[in-house]
Amino acid sequence: LDDLLGEGVQGRYVLVRSDLNVPLDGSAITDDGRVRAALPTIKKLADAGAKVVVTAHLGRPKGEPDPKFTLAPVAKRLGELLGSEVPLAGDLVGESAKALVAGLADGDVVLLENVRFDARETSKDAVDRSELAAELAALTPGGAFVSDGFGVVHRKQASVYEIAAVLPAYAGGLVLAELDVLKKLTDDVKRPYVVALGGSKVSDKLGVIANLLTKVDRLLIGGGMAYTFLKAKGYEVGTSLLQEDQLEQVKGFLAEAEKRGVELVLPVDVLAADGFAADAAHEAVDVTAIPADRMGLDIGPRSAELFAQKLADAATVFWNGPMGVFEFEAFAGGTRAVAEALVKSDAFTVVGGGDSAAAVRQLGLPEDGFSHISTGGGASLEYLEGKELPGVAALEGKN
Ligand code: 3PG
Repeated sequence: LDDLLGEGVQGRYVLVRSDLNVPLDGSAITDDGRVRAALPTIKKLADAGAKVVVTAHLGRPKGEPDPKFTLAPVAKRLGELLGSEVPLAGDLVGESAKALVAGLADGDVVLLENVRFDARETSKDAVDRSELAAELAALTPGGAFVSDGFGVVHRKQASVYEIAAVLPAYAGGLVLAELDVLKKLTDDVKRPYVVALGGSKVSDKLGVIANLLTKVDRLLIGGGMAYTFLKAKGYEVGTSLLQEDQLEQVKGFLAEAEKRGVELVLPVDVLAADGFAADAAHEAVDVTAIPADRMGLDIGPRSAELFAQKLADAATVFWNGPMGVFEFEAFAGGTRAVAEALVKSDAFTVVGGGDSAAAVRQLGLPEDGFSHISTGGGASLEYLEGKELPGVAALEGKN
């Protein structure tokens, strides 16, 4: 970004790919963290006189316009934060976008409608994606591309990957800052290095667990995925979330942890509820005694204490995924305990993405209590997994 600003952008089109994929309740944004994180790059470009065209996705629409996934609430919020209205094009590369972009004055910012309303964005066929990238480039003649959507750099998609081959491409400030932090979790990490993983499905985290077992000193497992671990250890888990097809894999992780001397910490008690609801009747039970008709919706109080204690002596902590259904107050205790342990800690603490970042804000914890709150969920996990991130490879000219 600094290189581009150094070249001068006054009057030049700059296409910025941001990650503005925010959680919504109807049309109300429940956590605007990603919009705020996208702001500095957009603002710097606008202040330098660029004609800024922002492209982003929201949710996973099916490759066609769908009012449920319009970026309208995001355009409004972006405008409020920027202090000047951000018009939303009615389409991506169609007549509305063309007219709006053509009318931009220096320093103006416009947002294109959800890039995933065009099926070519996420197409498996590189020809489709290249075609869309060419149309995006044609929308901004003589323009430059700034990749600033860290949360989406793990996606090989037209507005992330192919676009960098058709416009001069630059890394945005957010992408650079995120990579800088994540590097500290892989190179010369300060020990003890403790990782806390939660979230619902173990199948989403197989690669990262396998990789982390070769790197960390201690791995805490909570959230819905903990039940597959508990079952693999021989406990009954009632009606809790269980991925039977992952049991063998998880048994392999348990053996690997033991072989490598990695301390793998599982919940010792859970909040067992009579249904998946905010007001479900529940009680804390030992993991050896989860009733057959109950589901665990959070780690229990003894586990919360245990996890906090296992985080206390860490020098480096990475946390991804809530420990329970934190959206329901009654089941937010485990997630709060982990988050508070990080706030108290003097360690280098990184919160990885999506739900955990939203949880931190929803629980009212101070954002500056953490060394870094990443905007990338899947992207930060894939980085830690050691995978090449297509959006970063593209900036290195590998596309
Ligand atoms: C995210 O929410 O992690 C990013 O915005 C990427 O979204 P996706 O998983 O739908 O590609």
